[in-house]
Amino acid sequence: MARLRIGLIGWGTVGSALGRLVAAGPLPLELACLAVRDPAATRSSPLPDGVAVVTPEDVARAGLDAVVELAGGTEEPLGWARTALDAGTPYVTANKALLATHGEELSALARQRGAALLASASVGGGVPMLETVHHLAATGAIGRLRGVLNATTTYMLSAMGEGMTYGDALREAQTAGYAEADASLDVDGRDAAQKLAILASEAWGQWRSESQVERHGIRGLEVTEGQVIRLVAEATEQTLAVAPKEVERGSALGATSGIDNLLEIEVRAGGIFRIGGPGAGGRVTAGAVYADLARLVSGERPILFGGNA
Ligand SMILES: NC(=O)c1ccc[n+]([C@@H]2O[C@H](COP(=O)([O-])OP(=O)(O)OC[C@H]3O[C@@H](n4cnc5c(N)ncnc54)[C@H](OP(=O)(O)O)[C@@H]3O)[C@@H](O)[C@H]2O)c1
Repeated sequence: MARLRIGLIGWGTVGSALGRLVAAGPLPLELACLAVRDPAATRSSPLPDGVAVVTPEDVARAGLDAVVELAGGTEEPLGWARTALDAGTPYVTANKALLATHGEELSALARQRGAALLASASVGGGVPMLETVHHLAATGAIGRLRGVLNATTTYMLSAMGEGMTYGDALREAQTAGYAEADASLDVDGRDAAQKLAILASEAWGQWRSESQVERHGIRGLEVTEGQVIRLVAEATEQTLAVAPKEVERGSALGATSGIDNLLEIEVRAGGIFRIGGPGAGGRVTAGAVYADLARLVSGERPILFGGNA
């Protein structure tokens, strides 16, 4: 098996966890260079010894076997992805915001240049949701996607169903490390909308942007004690929506808790397939990135949103 030389942009929660996986093996991977925003910052996971620390632009144009972007944001990563893909370098990312905004352009560029574009970790954390949707789309027409894709709101809505106020649930989610200090991406439903747009793009072979998702978040929502509400993301070929909905306590969606994500994929003439598990966290998310790299090592060149043709 050929050894893959990779360049990594980002050494945060996911990037440093990926660094540990790469160092531990078993895949034949070499971390050739690394970029962060502030190389001099004090960090809980120190930058690895013996790896060149360069700029993200240098990583993108280094002519490596793959660029792995685990930084986040949209406009700067767009530039890095364009540079790498244009040079025929495979691009692997966990960046849902980038793909739900610029996925159409990047997928087209990847196809033009024959470069792989992979993003398992962008949806469902460690859960192979995109792979499953791709697989099922190849074997039968998908009728509908329905899921709980955001852990912060699941945590908050569970607590609110037990009598907690919105404000207290948000503070508790932040203390528990679920929600960011700025939780707007979660509570306004944007994180779930980006993930839904990516899943729908893969399901129906036509790219959808986050802006096409009809979106209602949970900001200020009042929940009666005993009610089971989840932020439900739902798509058909024509419609995309994210909204808080009451679900049956014993249903698969109603049983989600903690950081678990769940996706139901309804295949016309095939029934409903369910996939779920930990949807966030450094180790599990890095695991999905590592699985993407395993596909490159084995010679596959998958292109996200490329359809099944
Ligand atoms: N955390 C999760 O559970 C999770 C789950 C699924 C997907 N994701 C996605 O994975 C990506 C990374 O998330 P994370 O939680 O690991 O983020 P994070 O902990 O904030 O780490 C981000 C890393 O990227 C670097 N960075 C940010 N902007 C940069 C820039 N302009 N130039 C160079 N380096 C830059 C930062 O550098 P410094 O260290 O110098 O600040 C940091 O090392 C995001 O797209 C996120 O949506 C995360």
